[in-house]
Amino acid sequence: VFHILYNTPEQNISDAEIESQLVAMNADFMGTNADASKIPSAFKSLMGKPGIQFCLAKRTPTGAPTNGIVHKSTTKTSFTANDAAKYSSQGGDDAWDTKKYFNIWICNLEGTLLGYGEFPSTTITKTYGYVGHWKYTGTINSQAPFNLGRTTTHEIGHCLNLRHIWGDANCGSDGVSDTPTQQTSNSKCPAYPNVTCSNGPNGDMFMNYMDYSDDACMNMFTVGQTTRMLATINNAPYNVLKTS
Ligand code: ARG
Ligand code: ZN
Ligand code: CA
Repeated sequence: VFHILYNTPEQNISDAEIESQLVAMNADFMGTNADASKIPSAFKSLMGKPGIQFCLAKRTPTGAPTNGIVHKSTTKTSFTANDAAKYSSQGGDDAWDTKKYFNIWICNLEGTLLGYGEFPSTTITKTYGYVGHWKYTGTINSQAPFNLGRTTTHEIGHCLNLRHIWGDANCGSDGVSDTPTQQTSNSKCPAYPNVTCSNGPNGDMFMNYMDYSDDACMNMFTVGQTTRMLATINNAPYNVLKTS
């Protein structure tokens, strides 16, 4: 379910924009994104296909029909990463039961924050989900260079337990063996190869969704990242059918 929190008409992005976001993220999480053809040949065999699909909620928590997109006006002119967006009492919108729905809040985030995703935990929290900036949501009317819906792909990667590819440290580890160790985050569109941390000859996998490159320059999860995401989504507590 998408909760769109708006303080001005332009922040109230359309259902068509949300649907364009859904198409983009579903392609990325299926591994059917057309730009996978741009993956350097040395990394091609490492591309994972998570086979994860999202669909808009068809029923509200009380069973009423819905299109899965809530538009709610707020008096708050901007939000931060403090989770206010997730609470009606703080100018946001309460989550729909996080055990049954994946919640996405779209709002006006402050500063340079494109979005943030909550990591999974041993019990599902009431705040589990992703918060994204309205400007960078969807592939229509969204702002370059983050206009291909990949902030959502990146942040949902976090929600499914993926770390940044540089391990948030100098030549750090992301806990995934088939993503090369790299010095730090990349930005814009680096030239291939970008060798750091003795990771030659192929260098950084800056086209990975868990880096900070521009949307047009990221196009893959790896097999190892896929295993990690599926371990979360297919098991308790995130798989509602499994209790242990
Ligand atoms: N949390 C990151 C940020 O706010 C998101 C980076 C997403 N990158 C992208 N190319 N869309 O900077
Ligand atoms: Zn991140
Ligand atoms: Ca790695």
